[in-house]
This record gives sequence, C-alpha cells and structure tokens, in this order.
Amino acid sequence: MTSSDNSKIHLTEIVHIEFAERSYDIHIGASLLDATNLFDGLPQASVAVIVSNTTIAPIYAARLQASLQGRYKTIHTIVLPDGEAYKTWQTLNLIFDDLLKYSCDRKTTLFALGGGVVGDMTGFAAASYMRGVPFVQVPTTLLAQVDSSVGGKTGINHPLGKNMVGAFYQPQLVLCDLSTLNTLPVRELSAGLAEVIKYGPIADMVFFDWIEANIDALLARDPAALAHAVKRCCEIKAYVVGQDEREAGLRAILNFGHTFGHAIEAGLGYGAWLHGEAVGCGMVMAAQLSQRLGLVDAAFVARLTALIKKAGLPTVAPALALTAQTNADRYLELMRVDKKAEAGEIKFILINQPGQCVVQTAPDALVREVIAACS
Ligand code: NAD
Ligand code: GLY
Repeated sequence: MTSSDNSKIHLTEIVHIEFAERSYDIHIGASLLDATNLFDGLPQASVAVIVSNTTIAPIYAARLQASLQGRYKTIHTIVLPDGEAYKTWQTLNLIFDDLLKYSCDRKTTLFALGGGVVGDMTGFAAASYMRGVPFVQVPTTLLAQVDSSVGGKTGINHPLGKNMVGAFYQPQLVLCDLSTLNTLPVRELSAGLAEVIKYGPIADMVFFDWIEANIDALLARDPAALAHAVKRCCEIKAYVVGQDEREAGLRAILNFGHTFGHAIEAGLGYGAWLHGEAVGCGMVMAAQLSQRLGLVDAAFVARLTALIKKAGLPTVAPALALTAQTNADRYLELMRVDKKAEAGEIKFILINQPGQCVVQTAPDALVREVIAACS
C-alpha cells in the first residue's frame, strides 16, 4: 500500500500469533472497520458489546456496529470516560454494571475499540466477567496497534503502581485499521512512536535503521510507512510473546524503558505524561544506565536519544521531588513497586549490545547518577 487513496481497500497483512488452541491473527490494513468478513471465525454468539470511550465512540463505533450487524442479533455499546486517569477499578466496574444490566452471558463477545487504556480494561473485563468471555481488540492508536493490543496483557492501574492489577488473557482477533490513525492527535502519534522505536534496540537494529530513515514519513502518517512499522512491530511482539506468554524470561525485553517510565507516570500522576512519552524518556534513562554499566557506548546512547527526540518525545526526566536527593529517592521508591522487582531489588531491562537486551540489577548509586544526568 503506497498511496493515500486506499481508504476503501481492505488490503490486509496478517501476523499470526501462536498459542496452540488460543492462537489468533493480527490483521493490519486500511478501513478494516468495514471489513465484515474478518469476523467470520469468531465464536458463535448472539450478543456483541463494543467497549469504547467518549472520544473514540462518536468517531468509530457506528462503523464497527454496522460491520457486526450481520453476525450478532444484539449489539450494545459501553462508553467509558477517556484517559489514563480512568484506568481504574471504578471504571472497570462500569463495564461489569452494563454487562449485567444487558444480561450478557458467557458467549457474549466484547470488542475493545480504542487505545491501550480501553484495550487493557476491556481485556481485563473479558478475562473476569463470568470467569472469561471472548474478546476482540480493535486498536485505534499507534501505540495500541504496535504493542498493547497484542499479547494478552490486560489490567488497570493502582494508585501505588502502574498496571498492578490484571490478567494474561488473549483476544480472539486483533484488527489494526490503519485509517483510524488519521484522526489521532499528533502528541498521541509521537507516544506510539516510542513503542515503535523500542523494538529496534531490543530486537532488530535493521528495523531501527529503517525507523531512522523513515521517521519523517511516520510523523507525516504516510500509509506505507505506518503499515510497515505496525507489521514489523507485531511480528517481533508475536515472536516474543509466542515464546514467553507470561513473562518468565524473554518477554521482559518488551519493557525496555518501562521501569523508569512507569515511575514517571505514577510519580507525576497518571495522565500527566502519556505512557509513550514516559517510555520514550525511560528508554533514554535505561540506555544511559546501560552505558554506565559498560554495556553500550556513548554513540549508541546519543543515536537513540536523537531518534526519540526527533519523534517528538521528551528526553529530559521530570522532577518527582524538590531536591536532587529526594528526586532520586522517589524514583527508586516507585521503581521498587515495578512488577519485575524481586524482594525490593529493581530489575532493569538494559541494552547489552544494540539489538539485544539483558535483564539485571544495578547499584543504586549508578541509578542516581542516571537520574541526575537525565534531569
Ligand atoms: P489511550 O488509550 O489513552 O489513547 C490515547 C488518546 O487518544 C485517548 O484520549 C484516546 O481517546 C484517543 N484516541 C484513541 N484512538 C484515537 C483515534 N483513532 N482518533 C482520535 N483519538 C483517539 O493511550 P494509548 O497510548 O493508546 O495506550 C496507553 C495505555 O496502554 C497505557 O495504559 C499503557 O499502560 C497501556 N499499554 C499496555 C500494553 C499491554 O501490553 N497491554 C502495552 C503498552 C501499553
Ligand atoms: N508491553 C509489554 C508486554 O506486552 O509485555
């Protein structure tokens, strides 16, 4: 797909994700919201529920509903408040309230129409409503298309820690409609690019070279560039989570930048910085820590930092407290509640050599140096 007049063509790239009987396909293409045939393989059910939010539902819910009409007798739509600040137990309960109000049964299929927040919450609702109902991811942000809709991590935030309550629960299908990215605010596009860039240093430096060469096209939402980026990211993620669904080992590499990033998100208050912004800055911090541990050289850190900056992302860490000492204390305190921490020891995802990760602890003194250098 190279032209921008492809809005009515359902050309699809398919990335398969292998989980034995829970395997599924990720479809990537333009105008997939209107491609009714893609739902053919879903489990039989009479009721579908679209879960979306106040921003996305008015733009896209009617189109998805029209596509589902032939397959389901009844289609309900649940509209949640928009924002990371609402990725909470209270909002999750709104989904359960409506599912019960509509007498939804065990076959009811949920459709998560939105970004990562809607996707993570709908997935968790699907994992737990009546102990599990089928669900489909229809991601509408770049971040959700390249990362959060794939691989089955679902959940909500807790005031004390990001994504602390949730479940691994795989969708039946993922539909990445690239045309939906046309309405995405520019700040959100940049946030998604953080997760795109992430796949380079952790797994594929050829892809990193490609991102560097195509960053302007990606920022300009060139359809071919976006299609390639989404496909390559999904391929890498499908490989990683196919090897290690529950993050016993390899999957941790997908959290490069997230240990520092989650501290930024929780420390500033959810929603102050976008998840992708926090991850972008977190990758700079994790790369600096890798350098201080002698794993990569300054040239690599400079190259990664330049690309993150070019993508429109912050590279200077925000202050979480007033003095340098209390700021570092706060970062360390928040990072100790990270899911990868063991007995209070923080596990960092570091770059061993460009394209390859190592997961290890680091002396607090070095982490403090990084926080000071990045502030
Ligand atoms: P988001 O879901 O908050 O969406 C960003 C904003 O864009 C929202 O205001 C949303 O309403 C709006 N929006 C979405 N699609 C739009 C469109 N097509 N047009 C116009 N506006 C649109 O944020 P996100 O960046 O998509 O996701 C971030 C979340 O994903 C975080 O909570 C993060 O923890 C989670 N996440 C989860 C995983 C996972 O593996 N489950 C991976 C990465 C991130
Ligand atoms: N985004 C991290 C993961 O899916 O494991």
